[in-house]
Formats: sequence, structure tokens, C-alpha cells
Amino acid sequence: MIERNISKAASVIQNGGLVAFPTETVYGLGADAFNAEAVAKIYATKGRPADNPLILHIASIEQFMELADNPPEYAIQLAQSYWPGPLTLVAKKKSHIPSWVGGHPDNATQTVGIRIPNHPVALALIQAAKRPIAAPSANKAGKPSPTSAAHVMDDYPNGEIDMILEGETLEVGVESTVVDITGATPVILRPGAITAEMIQQFSPLSHEVTATDAPRSPGMKYRHYAPQAEMVILNGTAQAVADKIISECNASPKELIGALVTKAAADIIRNQNPHNIHIQILSESLQAVAQELFAQLRQFDKTDVVKIYAQAVSGDGLGTAIMDRMRKAADGNIIDV
Ligand code: TXA
Ligand code: MG
Repeated sequence: MIERNISKAASVIQNGGLVAFPTETVYGLGADAFNAEAVAKIYATKGRPADNPLILHIASIEQFMELADNPPEYAIQLAQSYWPGPLTLVAKKKSHIPSWVGGHPDNATQTVGIRIPNHPVALALIQAAKRPIAAPSANKAGKPSPTSAAHVMDDYPNGEIDMILEGETLEVGVESTVVDITGATPVILRPGAITAEMIQQFSPLSHEVTATDAPRSPGMKYRHYAPQAEMVILNGTAQAVADKIISECNASPKELIGALVTKAAADIIRNQNPHNIHIQILSESLQAVAQELFAQLRQFDKTDVVKIYAQAVSGDGLGTAIMDRMRKAADGNIIDV
């Protein structure tokens, strides 16, 4: 089931099938973006709500210019600077593009999310298929995004996907930054490895979306990335986080507690020797934390933990993207300790 044959994968796409493929961010669940039946299969297989549009994965800026209607100058500069890379541009669609393309075939959309992924397997697949590939993250709806072929197999154990391509270690590990470029200035709809600072080199940001606005990116309104156990984020020093987790272990001696914490906090916890803890360590660099986060959330699902305490990560840029994913996994549940 997990394979490396790109030309075979390209013909699966051309024949209306589904291929899970690696990108530098997470695995995508891909189909021919212009084949309505194939795109409908993505939604059905993933269990994705029809109102949540898909990203079109392309291999050149020329393809972007064929799809996007008159993109602003700053958007072209962003594309030239950060593609191939973890950046999705939400553009107005050219009028000759079928109205449903970029979304569910039953829905018309005015805009389309587009990116050139920076992974040799993804690029080779898009080139060999000779068409844009529509793909959401390859997880079952609500689960953490897959960062390995094995994660994809875990979510679809019964051959629901025609083919899964092997991608080795993914460089980024969290999904692309999604930027709306339909206005005079860009709006960040989802934070990622292309940071606000990197985007501001080409245009000031619009802060048009506030916490109380309706989500502009439909995917933002759903609970996401969630491990099976309830998750709580603890915001505080290593000592305070460790103290809180130890007291929770003591309060529920018959239950296994999960901890996703820095080494400093883990050392303090282990010194107390609680018998009912399963610890995973947050790496020191933000890059490594991003790369490992979804695999760690999935790892808790393989244990009997009933509750997971995750230590908040600080830092701008990639730190913002990591905290966004953690908050969604915790359904907004964050405690200052
Ligand atoms: O890194 C990524 O972006 C990965 C890889 C596979 O490319 N893909 C990914 O896709 O994360 P997905 O479908 O899980 O998330 C795409 C996000 C969703 O929040 C969706 O609502 C938003 O982008 N989006 C896509 N098209 C949009 C559009 N036309 N307007 C507004 N938001 C859009
Ligand atoms: Mg997703």
C-alpha cells in the first residue's frame, strides 16, 4: 500500500483515484482538481464538511497565473519569494474556471486556495499528473494531520485510498500559512512557517479578521488536530507546569495522565516519580517542535491516557503556528499556572 512509484500514482490521479502524497508540511489526500467525482470522493473519504474548500497543489507560477484572476503585485512577490514552500494563496478565480473548482462539487466558490509544495515527491507527482491536484491534509476529519505514510495508513486501514506515497521526514510538520490575497493587503487566515514578518516584507497586513468575525477560512471553525483524550494547555514556567501535572497525577492515581512538556519540566516531574504518567518531550527548537507535534499527539492515542497536559510554547513566527494547532487540539482549553 505504501509505494514510491510516481508514474503509477500520476495515472491513479488521471483516472479519478485518490493518492495520499507527502509535502514539506503534512500529507495531502489528492485527486484531479478538475474531476468532480474524484473531488467528491476526497470529501466522502475524509469525512470533510462540504463547505470547507480544498487547496490546489500546482508546480509552477505559470499555473497560478492561469487560475488566479488578476492577483495583486504583492501576491506575485509572495509567490516568487516563498514558492515552492509552505504558503497557500487564496485568490479570486478566473471566470473560465468551473465555479466548484477548489471546493466541493455541489458548492460554488469565488476563490481558490493554491500552493506549490516544496517536496520532491509532491512536485514530481503534480508534474507527472499534468494537472493541479486538489488536496486537504490526509487525516480523517478532526484528527491530527499526518506527517508520515504510517499515520495515513492508521486513518484509512481498509484501502479507502488507492495509493499512499512514501515521503521520509517532512521538513516543516505543520500546515501551510493560508493568506487571503483578494484584497489590497493580505490577510493571514491560518498561521504557518511563512510568518507574518516574512509576508510584511512585501505588504502591510490587513487586520480585518478579528476574533469576533465569522471565520473567513471555513476550516478555522472546526475542532481539529485532536487526540482522543481531552487536552489542556498549561501556560507557565517549567516548575509551575510540572507542579500542576504532579498534583493531577496525585489526584487521579488510577488514571494515566499524558504530558507533552519541555525536558526541564519532565525532569522535575520524574524526580517526583509519579507512577501514572506518560511523558513526551517538546524539543528545544521551534522547528523540531513543529516537525514532531502531530506525531506526538497521535502517539498519545496509542496509550491509555485519559487527559493530556501540554506545555505552552512561546515565540513569534513558527511559535504562533504551533500554539494555533495546540489550541485547536485542546479546543481552546488553556490554563495559566
Ligand atoms: O500544508 C497544507 O496546507 C496542507 C498540505 C497537504 O498542502 N494542506 C492542508 O489542507 O492543510 P486543509 O484542507 O487541511 O486546510 C486548508 C485550509 C482550511 O482551513 C481551508 O478552510 C482553507 O485552507 N482554505 C482552502 N481554500 C480556501 C478558500 N478558497 N478560501 C478560504 N479558505 C480556504
Ligand atoms: Mg486539515
